[in-house]
Amino acid sequence: TYEKVWLAAAMVLIVGFIATITYGAVGPGIAMIDDEAGSIDPAEINDDERFAEPGVEHVGGNEYEVTVVAQAWSYSPAEIEVPANSEVTFYVTSRDVTHSFSVVGTNVNTMVIPGQVSEMTVQFDEPGEYGILCNEYCGEYHHTMEGKLNVV
Ligand code: CUA
Repeated sequence: TYEKVWLAAAMVLIVGFIATITYGAVGPGIAMIDDEAGSIDPAEINDDERFAEPGVEHVGGNEYEVTVVAQAWSYSPAEIEVPANSEVTFYVTSRDVTHSFSVVGTNVNTMVIPGQVSEMTVQFDEPGEYGILCNEYCGEYHHTMEGKLNVV
């Protein structure tokens, strides 16, 4: 009967949606908000051992951790340098409003929400100078909010 056909079609759609969402969450190199990276009170960023002095840390072998604090209308640090082909995990939070952390020409593009830590792990194969931009409107000087990533 037609009912069974429609039911089957609906099931296919639902499975498809779930697959899409799962792929988006765990897909190539990008994890969105990670529970382990967790939450942070924007008022306590200065006292947080990860974010009090944001920047690049070599955590061993081929691995680097980069902490970044976004704040209208800049990133701290303003300039990041990592070796090509290393495994780089970014931890990004905001001190004030919602921003984004987007590395031009790569698939690094995450929202940065006050109170939360966005985590993503990436490998940059191509040495070069990459722009970092904010894609979320964050006020009068949103368009000037930028940083720089040097892959060396
Ligand atoms: Cu920060 Cu737009």
